[in-house]
Amino acid sequence: MGRPHGRAGRAALDEQAWVSPGDPGVALILAIELGGKVVGDCQLTVTSVGDRQAEVGFRLNPRFAGRGLATRAVAAVLGFGYVQLGLHRVEAVMDVRNERSWRLMERVGMRREGRIIHGSFVRGEWVDDYLYAMLDFEWNQRHPGLVEGGAL
Ligand SMILES: CC(C)(COP(=O)(O)OP(=O)(O)OC[C@H]1O[C@@H](n2cnc3c(N)ncnc32)[C@H](O)[C@@H]1OP(=O)(O)O)[C@@H](O)C(=O)NCCC(=O)NCCS
Repeated sequence: MGRPHGRAGRAALDEQAWVSPGDPGVALILAIELGGKVVGDCQLTVTSVGDRQAEVGFRLNPRFAGRGLATRAVAAVLGFGYVQLGLHRVEAVMDVRNERSWRLMERVGMRREGRIIHGSFVRGEWVDDYLYAMLDFEWNQRHPGLVEGGAL
C-alpha cells in the first residue's frame, strides 16, 4: 500500500490539506504508520452533522495484518469521533467474505445490524455486505467517562 499513487492518490492528499475534522461528506484519513512507513489508513466520514452520523473505514497492507494495528487505529478514530466530534452513531459496511474485517468490528464493540444483499459489485459479481454500527452510549459503556459532547 504505502503512499497513495497516481492522480487519485494526489487528490486525496491535497484534500487532506484543507479538510477539517467534522466536515461533512469528506473523509478524514488517519495514516497507520509503522517504523516511519505508512502501512494502512483509517477513514472517518461525517455523513450528517445534524444527526451526528458518520462512517468508518480502514485498510491495512496484509503484510502487517494480525498485530492489532488496524484494531488500534479504528478504536482511536472511533474515540475521536465520539469524544471530540460528539458523534451519536458510527457505522461501517464490509464484504461478508472479509472475516478479518468483521471480526475487527466486533473486537472494537461494533454491533452487526444486518446483511445488505448485493450491496457491492466486486470483480464482476454481486456480493453481500454486513452493516455494523455503534452508538455513543455503547462506546461510553466500554470507555466510561469519555463521552462529553463535542464539536458537531
Ligand atoms: C481486515 C484488515 C484490514 C485488518 O485485520 P487484522 O489484521 O486482523 O486486524 P489487526 O491489525 O487489528 O490485527 C488483529 C489481530 O492481531 C491480534 N492482536 C495482537 N495485538 C493486538 C492488540 N494490541 N490489539 C488488538 N489486537 C491485537 C488480534 O488478536 C488479532 O489476531 P487474530 O486475528 O489472530 O485474532 C487486514 O487484515 C486485511 O484484510 N487487509 C487486507 C486488505 C484490506 O485492507 N481490507 C480492508 C477491507 S474493509
